[in-house]
Amino acid sequence: MSTTHLNHLQRLAWAAVAAALWAGCSDAPAPASTTDANFDTTSDLADATSRPDAGDASDTRESSDSSDTSTPPVSVEHLLPPVEQTGGALTSDSTQWRFMELADTLGLEQTLRFSQGRELFVAEWEPAPSSRPVIDGLGPHFNEVSCAGCHPSSGRPATLGPDGQVHPGLLIRLVRETDQGRLPDPVFGPQFQPRSIAGVAAEGHVSWYPTATSSDNNHGAPRFSIEPHPSYGALHPDTRALGRASPHLVGLGLLDLVADATILEAADPEDADGDGISGRPNILDDGRLGRFGWKALQPTLRGQSAMALAQDMGITSPEVMAENCSASQHDCLQSPSGGSPEVDEQGLAALVEYQRYIGVPAVRRHAGRATLEAGARHFDAAGCTGCHRPKLVTRALPDRPLLSEQILHPFTDLLLHDMGEGLSDPAGEGNAGAREWRTAPLWGLGLVESLNPNARFLHDGRAQNLEEAILWHGGEADPARRYVEALNDDGRRALLEFVRSL
Ligand code: HEC
Ligand code: HEC
Repeated sequence: MSTTHLNHLQRLAWAAVAAALWAGCSDAPAPASTTDANFDTTSDLADATSRPDAGDASDTRESSDSSDTSTPPVSVEHLLPPVEQTGGALTSDSTQWRFMELADTLGLEQTLRFSQGRELFVAEWEPAPSSRPVIDGLGPHFNEVSCAGCHPSSGRPATLGPDGQVHPGLLIRLVRETDQGRLPDPVFGPQFQPRSIAGVAAEGHVSWYPTATSSDNNHGAPRFSIEPHPSYGALHPDTRALGRASPHLVGLGLLDLVADATILEAADPEDADGDGISGRPNILDDGRLGRFGWKALQPTLRGQSAMALAQDMGITSPEVMAENCSASQHDCLQSPSGGSPEVDEQGLAALVEYQRYIGVPAVRRHAGRATLEAGARHFDAAGCTGCHRPKLVTRALPDRPLLSEQILHPFTDLLLHDMGEGLSDPAGEGNAGAREWRTAPLWGLGLVESLNPNARFLHDGRAQNLEEAILWHGGEADPARRYVEALNDDGRRALLEFVRSL
């Protein structure tokens, strides 16, 4: 049986499992249809991938475009990688499941493991005891009932709503800056959970309001008000509430496999090369290199997943055995457990394996070649590549060829940068300062935007679109922002089309 044929059958098998799952959970976002007007269909992409100059002739929307002559004549080929190679062998040009699509190249065994993990990822967990013991153990306190609730297949979930509404896709971390370092809130812990299972009080209610510092380019930063449930008392007066928006998940298993040395080679903490961009690794207290989350607080995909289970859903695992109840939350401590741990080793491994093999969306070349080249030149000339590094390579893994030495185009250096006062949080978190953020990977962002026109950007969802996100850049990225501010409309449009294509 040919590989293509096998994959076709696997896809059908998965589609059946998935359809059953989606049918069972009415709140879950429905899988996007393949005939979405916002997204060109597979035939367009298949066409695009077969020709190195894809985007030129096939696109009529940009036909009136002329390349911006004001851009410097440097080669930007390295910024325009072949369409099908964004995530090496794990690139997917399928449009059915978007950010939950298995890579085209998986064999049968991997596909089965992928499907098990995906079931856990989309499953809506239930309080224990339930008739479905595999997925019980939700809470006592939690933010959302499934991973997919915050990381849906259309990319990013709702975060900040109108009238101060905060959706589950935006969670709140609690930090106190003290003489002994950064500590969680003594009662509410490191993360606020506004939801709970029956019989246990939820931690309370969160709302947001914008700071007054809005300008033509942005709408004020969000700040958060917390009304704790009276049975738990007040927040500590020094506790600060920090907003964290759910990112879309792309190629995280691949980023997990980039060698520390590869990340460290781009670090320049003292700005020795004098380009104004430093970039420092987030070295954790145990010496490991952090790389996941907006502040690179988690060193591995396994650790990130275990923390998500524990903090976001209240589910214990071999990595995090304690329920997220503090010593004074007696109702929380006394509630029934869904097993010890609630997700076993096999479940946690499947969840990680699933995320490892999610296909990286292929580059989308909807704009004409001239526009994309002009955009890439602006990206280069503005200095965006100083942080949004176009290429990373995974380390050698002889027994896993699909993951081994893969060339990726994530557009991140996975380092922390000082992004200035405008992007500063009210407090730091872990070993990252209030103004320091990990360079956000740009792959898949254009797809997020086209699938969900209300998607928001940056760590707390403050930016309503990609342009706003760029115009919030400050600190080490100040010159880059000023470059963009000085661009004419055509230049800005080209830059944005380029970012959307990644
Ligand atoms: C309540 C919403 C919510 C739920 C539920 C949730 N996440 Fe997340 N996820 C987030 C947020 C917010 C972040 C960013 C966290 C940070 O910056 O510290 C994140 C980050 C991540 C990242 C790192 C992304 C990156 O770019 O570094 C991974 C991987 C991840 N989540 C996996 C999971 C898995 C697996 C589950 C289910 C076990 C899950 N998440 C459940 C909100 C959620
Ligand atoms: C000094 C490093 C640096 C430079 C230079 C830089 N960025 Fe960023 N970029 C970041 C960091 C860090 C973030 C995340 C900031 C946050 O969430 O608060 C980010 C976020 C973004 C986002 C939003 C991503 C998301 O997931 O919401 C976009 C889009 C973006 N950058 C594009 C650009 C473009 C285009 C340029 C050049 C004009 C640029 N950046 C220059 C570091 C940089």
